[in-house]
Amino acid sequence: MNILIKNIGHLYSPDVNGDYGDITNRENVAISIKDGYIEKIHPERNPSLDTVNRVIDAKGLTVLPGFVDAHTHPVFWKTREAEFVMRNQGKSYEEIAATGGGIRNSARSFHEAGKSEIKSITKNRIKTFLEYGTTTIEAKSGYGLSREGEIKALEIISELNNEQELEMVPTFLGAHEVPDDYRSRREKYIQLIIEEMLPEIAERKLAEYCDVFCEKGVFTIEETRKILKVAKDYGLKARIHADELHAFGAAELAAEIEAATADHLVMVSDKGIKAMAEKKVIPVLLPATTFFLRKDQYAPARKILSYNCEVALATDFNPGSSMTQNMPLIWTIAALKLGMVTGELLWATTIIPAKSLMREKEIGSIDVGKQADLVLMDIPNLDYLAYHMGINHVMATIKKGETVFKKEDR
Ligand code: NIG
Ligand code: FE
Repeated sequence: MNILIKNIGHLYSPDVNGDYGDITNRENVAISIKDGYIEKIHPERNPSLDTVNRVIDAKGLTVLPGFVDAHTHPVFWKTREAEFVMRNQGKSYEEIAATGGGIRNSARSFHEAGKSEIKSITKNRIKTFLEYGTTTIEAKSGYGLSREGEIKALEIISELNNEQELEMVPTFLGAHEVPDDYRSRREKYIQLIIEEMLPEIAERKLAEYCDVFCEKGVFTIEETRKILKVAKDYGLKARIHADELHAFGAAELAAEIEAATADHLVMVSDKGIKAMAEKKVIPVLLPATTFFLRKDQYAPARKILSYNCEVALATDFNPGSSMTQNMPLIWTIAALKLGMVTGELLWATTIIPAKSLMREKEIGSIDVGKQADLVLMDIPNLDYLAYHMGINHVMATIKKGETVFKKEDR
């Protein structure tokens, strides 16, 4: 199958041969796609080719690589707008969690619904990623908090990978919270994760990564280290919810165990940043979460970048602390609150998250030989994307050469 995308006004990609933040900007070009992969970038708008099966006319639109969202929690049942309202009236995320709300609230509702119900609502929700230009996500379990519940979540991710076009990389997050019936015997829950969940998940290849919410009042540094070491023995690489609400030493732990990523990092110490830089742990910043939780202090992105860490940005899509699939909105918040500039925003949402998922050879930039994961946007230049906030500029999304979303012409 040969596809030609003609009449591209601007084509922006991270310049993978340059430094972090360097962009290639080609104007008036076309792209040939063969069997889902980029075959050639033509230096003209309308090359004459004989072997084209299908032509897509970009009509002067801007083309970017599909976004890669390296931190999401898409498999949940009920939404939690009541907690959002409570926070807006002055209750904090931690107070709501301590009284049985938060993640435990989601875990209770997760057990009320059957697998097919949760699967169908998840399928609906993840369509929105494609509509906003995201073509690959990392998808965590973490609302089951029991052997059956966690397996159910990971099976849903695995089945949906075959039944719709968004690509999902599965992460096991059984250690998202200590569930209700283990509050007075938490070590038993950790034992359950280590002795029952991890072996089955590894055996059935239901996850590539293992994550832990390492936070005061949730899982300690020692517990996190223990879980992630066992996960590593089973072939699952580590990601950590690290130093979000307190400076906890979780970034240092991520470096010590050579985790793929440390995520959140709002309260990260200088020592933690230095350790991550040395061990090339990828910091995944989630500024929509800070915004949604009404916090004033954001992750120290400029400081982290000054240590030459390759920063990624993600939505953290989840029902509690960040209810959005919209990556361009993350561009806006990161520009305003993290002081990141356009080239950095592009790298942080394409090639670096791809690298954090070990897929940088296949996705994350527009280069010959890579998967044709592309977004066609109605924007005049790349600075415009963060600037015209909250609007969906995506006209079409293409995954492996297939058009998976198309906005009707206005
Ligand atoms: O990344 N911090 C822990 N996990 C999620 C929140 C999940 C929830 O509140 O349901 C996060 O923010
Ligand atoms: Fe999260």
